[in-house]
Order: sequence, then C-alpha cells, then structure tokens
Amino acid sequence: MFASIAARYDLLNHLLSGSMDARWRRLTARKLRSRLPAGPVEILDVACGTGDLSLTLFETIGTARVIGTDFCRPMLDVAARKFAGCGSRIPLIEGDAMRLPFLERSFDCVTIAFGLRNLANTEAGLLEIFRVLKPAGSVAVLEFSKPVVPGFSFLFSVYFTKVLPFLGGLISGSRSAYQYLPDSVARFPDQRELADLMGSVGFSDVEYRNLTGGIAALHLGKRPK
Ligand SMILES: C[S@@+](CC[C@H](N)C(=O)[O-])C[C@H]1O[C@@H](n2cnc3c(N)ncnc32)[C@H](O)[C@@H]1O
Repeated sequence: MFASIAARYDLLNHLLSGSMDARWRRLTARKLRSRLPAGPVEILDVACGTGDLSLTLFETIGTARVIGTDFCRPMLDVAARKFAGCGSRIPLIEGDAMRLPFLERSFDCVTIAFGLRNLANTEAGLLEIFRVLKPAGSVAVLEFSKPVVPGFSFLFSVYFTKVLPFLGGLISGSRSAYQYLPDSVARFPDQRELADLMGSVGFSDVEYRNLTGGIAALHLGKRPK
C-alpha cells in the first residue's frame, strides 16, 4: 500500500493536514531534545517512511546520530533523495518493525511516527521497540488519536472519514490507502489506552500530550534503568 503512494505521500501529508504534520514532528523533536542526555546519542526512527521525522530529529538534536528504518523500499527511496538534497547523513536500513535488525539495548531513543497503527500487532511492536532501547532510553510515539473537543470531533470526523479519502484517492490514485487511514485510526487504541498499553509492556514515566485537539497525540516513555 505504501509503495503505491510513496511518490505523493509527502505532498498529501502536508496538503491534507494543512502542514500540521510538520509542526507535530518538530514538537516531537524538541520534546526529545529536552529529555535526552547531553552529548552524542543514537536515535532509531522506526517506520521512518519518507524520512520527515528522521530529518527533523537530525536538524533539531545537534548531537544525535539518527538512523531510519522501514520495510517499504519506495518510501525509503524518497527519503534517500530528500536527505541527499539537504546533505544530511542519515543511514536508511530496510527492516521490519516487528523484527528490527538491531541488537537489544542499542539506542538512546526510538521514535515511531504514524507507524505503530500500521503494525500487525501493536503490543508486539512496542515490545520490539523496548528490546532495542538502552535502559533509561526514551521512546516517542507520534500517532493519530481521538479528538477530545466535542463539536470539533464531529467536524473532524466528517473531514477524516469523507473528505480525506476522496481527496487522497484523487491525488494519489489509491482511494483504498486513504480509506485505510480513518479505518485504521478507528481500530487503534485512543490516547489513554495507548498510554496503558505502553505501561503494560514495561515502559515507565509514560505521558501523552494531545496535539491539535487530539487529532494526534505524542506519547513519551522510558525503558526503566
Ligand atoms: C504513515 S507512514 C509514516 C511514515 C513516517 N514515519 C512519517 O511520519 O511520515 C507509515 C510507514 O510505516 C511503514 N511500515 C508499516 N508497517 C511496517 C513494518 N512492519 N515494518 C517497517 N515499516 C512499516 C510503512 O512502510 C510506512 O512507510
């Protein structure tokens, strides 16, 4: 599915979200900058897709070595072209988030943006992130969530379930990919359920922040020492 929309993925992200997606990624990077230790840190961006969060992390956290991983080669190809254009040094590794090709306790920080919802098993995906994090390492999950403002929720739901699949389908040529988006968000845990799930797989200090009225949420946590 992602291979079929890779070429238009960035354009549609920015268009359909009114560029809010870029603001959410910048906020994620700033929050992590304030949590990570000073000095060199290794960050793994799981399901990095076309690399927008990887690049934002690289640009925001000067001391970070960022690695992006995704199992969709056409998405990674877009990321590679983007990184070459701005001279960044972000290695990209093809890999499945359910079986990350890294040793346990490898990274100071693991991020996943709009990726966790797509995994075959959310809990197993979180456990795999936990495995590759160093003790005291930080996790950040940026994901669509459930709007929390009543009137706004209704308007957003009309946009998200009707307008977005129509426009996304028209521009990308894949209506099913943009119908999948609201369908998968509806099946995904809401902000509290996700925080509970993160706690249940072993993360500590789990907290979340609603973004743009809860359209998205940023969950942060730590692997205990
Ligand atoms: C909605 S995109 C998000 C891309 C990027 N993180 C962003 O913020 O724009 C979801 C990405 O998850 C990737 N993905 C889904 N399941 C995966 C898996 N099991 N392993 C690795 N990547 C996966 C897809 O290939 C796609 O690039």
